[in-house]
Amino acid sequence: MVKKFLILFSVIVFMGNILSCKVKGGEKKIDEEIQLPQPKTRGKISLEESILKRHSVRDFSKRILSREQISQLLWAAYGEKHDAKTGATKTVPSAGAAYPMETYLVSSQGFFHYFPQNHKLVKLKNIDLRSSLSKAALRQGCVSSAGVNIVITCVYDRICGRYKKRGIKYAYIEAGHIAQNIHLQAVCLGLSSVAVGAFSDEAVQKVLDLPNDHIPVYIIPVGYPKKK
Ligand SMILES: Cc1cc2nc3c(=O)[nH]c(=O)nc-3n(C[C@H](O)[C@H](O)[C@H](O)COP(=O)(O)O)c2cc1C
Repeated sequence: MVKKFLILFSVIVFMGNILSCKVKGGEKKIDEEIQLPQPKTRGKISLEESILKRHSVRDFSKRILSREQISQLLWAAYGEKHDAKTGATKTVPSAGAAYPMETYLVSSQGFFHYFPQNHKLVKLKNIDLRSSLSKAALRQGCVSSAGVNIVITCVYDRICGRYKKRGIKYAYIEAGHIAQNIHLQAVCLGLSSVAVGAFSDEAVQKVLDLPNDHIPVYIIPVGYPKKK
């Protein structure tokens, strides 16, 4: 009886491991949930000051970003809010409230998918993909040196189903809203950023092993500026 139970238990554990780990190119795919801290709605500097201070920075220091900073950046990018009065549910506008974007985070700590509904990150890979991502972005140094890269992708079916070809334009505009929120939030956190549009969509998809319908639109490297 005990032996049978042990065999059954080993089989369950083995199957569980197979289901939760997809091995690809030697990289284990994991599924670890990380609850992000509650984002703040009051900052140290004004909106006007962050607009004034924002500029592109392409050389970052090695300093790691805190979980609070990452939480704040992702919330500003595509986080949720619940405003009963206005009905607005996200930090950015979206044509027809379709919200077709999916955001990912690439850092020295691993590769993560952001889930705005519960403000969680799901760790997909335990390795630092910044250098590989940089190669997919014409070897731009800002991508490999940034503390984090926020990768904005679009699931075009979610927007083109309703708006057909025009949905593509709407997706690009929405990516711009997201990017600007990240840039301004970064300044408020004492961080810097740059917009990166020069990359191979296919190479980025391959490096990150993204689902086929998550098409990369924009990469926003963020970090502490390197002191000169
Ligand atoms: C759509 C878009 C794509 C961009 N792509 C890149 C890029 O691939 N690499 C880069 O270093 N800067 C990129 N930039 C940043 C611009 O070069 C930068 O914003 C511009 O030179 C103005 O400088 P400022 O951001 O400091 O005001 C991009 C900006 C936009 C809006």
